[in-house]
Amino acid sequence: MTTLVVGGAGYIGSHVVRLLSERGEHVVVVDDLSTGFRERVTGADLVELDITAPDAREKLAFHLRASGADSVIHFAAHKQVGESVANPELYWHDNIAGLATVLAACANAEVRDVVFSSSAAVYGMPDVELVTEELDPRPINPYGATKYVGEWMLTDAERAHDMRTVALRYFNVAGAGWPELADTQVMNLVPIVLDALAAGRAPIVFGDDYDTPDGTCIRDYVHVLDLAEAHIAALDYLRGDERPHRVLNVGTGTGSSVLEVIDAISRATGQEITPEIGPRRAGDPAKLVCSTDRIRGSLGWESSRTLDDIVESAVAARRDA
Ligand code: WQD
Repeated sequence: MTTLVVGGAGYIGSHVVRLLSERGEHVVVVDDLSTGFRERVTGADLVELDITAPDAREKLAFHLRASGADSVIHFAAHKQVGESVANPELYWHDNIAGLATVLAACANAEVRDVVFSSSAAVYGMPDVELVTEELDPRPINPYGATKYVGEWMLTDAERAHDMRTVALRYFNVAGAGWPELADTQVMNLVPIVLDALAAGRAPIVFGDDYDTPDGTCIRDYVHVLDLAEAHIAALDYLRGDERPHRVLNVGTGTGSSVLEVIDAISRATGQEITPEIGPRRAGDPAKLVCSTDRIRGSLGWESSRTLDDIVESAVAARRDA
C-alpha cells in the first residue's frame, strides 16, 4: 500500500506519516515546507511541491502514478482563524484551490481513497452539550467556511470520479507523539501558555464570565497521536467494504476548561501559574465538546490519552526537542 500525504511535514501530518511508515507502508510526502520541516519526514520520500503552483496538478498526478499510490491524505492548508478573517482570499485560494488541485490529480491518476483534514470550525457556535455530525454546519469565519466547502468538494469528487472519501473534523489538537514532531507554531492554548511561562509572562485567559462551571471556555482537547491513529483507522475504513459515513468528528467526548488546561500545565511543569484574566475573544463559543458516537461506531476508534498525557507530552517535547 502506498499513501501520498500532502502536508506530511507539518505537525499533524508528520505524526500520521510516522505511524504509516512504522506499520510498513510506503509513504510519499508532498510539502512546500512553508510551515513544515524536512527533518520531520523520516521513513518516507519527500517531494517539495507547492500545490497552488500552476503546474501542481500535473506534477502531483505524476508522483501519484510513479509511486503507485492508492490513497491520499490531504493536510496542507492555512489554519489561523484570525488570519482568515483578515485575508479570506488567501484561504479561498490556498485551501480551496489547493484541495481542488489534489482532487483533480487523484482523479487523473485514478486514486480512489482520500482522507481530508476538516475541522470543528465548520460548526461555528453550536449551543449544544455534545456536537454531533448531524448538526447543520454554520461556520463563522473564512477558515471554517473553507473546510466546509472542502467537504462539499469531496462529495462532488466521489460522484464524478468514483472516489471514496472521509473528512475528519478535528477538535482541539495538542501534545506530541515524538518530541521532534511537536507543534512549533504558537497559535493554540497549550503552546501559548508554555511560551508565556518560558518568557516569564502570565498566560491570559480570554474571559471567565462564560456560562460554564468555572466561567472559562470548554473545549475537547485530543492528543495528536490519538488523532494520527484516527487517520490510520480512516484509511483502513476506506479500504474496507462498509462505509456508512463520510464525515466524522475526532475528539475525546470530554471537555476541559481553560483553567483546567492551565492546571494540567502547572502539574506537568511543577510551576505555579497565576493567569491573568482578560476580556473575551470574539467568536469563542462557551463550550465545544465532540460527540464520539459516530467515529467509534464507524472506525472502532476512540481516544486513549488524557489531558495530562497531552500536556505532559507537550512539556517534554519543549524540554527534549
Ligand atoms: C482554546 C481555548 C480560548 C489562548 C481553534 C480554531 C479551531 C481549531 C482549533 C484548527 C479557547 C482560550 C486561548 C489564550 C485563552 N483549529 N485561550 N488564552 O479557538 O478553540 O480553536 O483551534 O482546525 O478551528 O478556532 O483554540 O487554542 O485558540 O483556544 O484563554 O491565550 O483557550 O478562548 O477557549 P480554539 P485555541
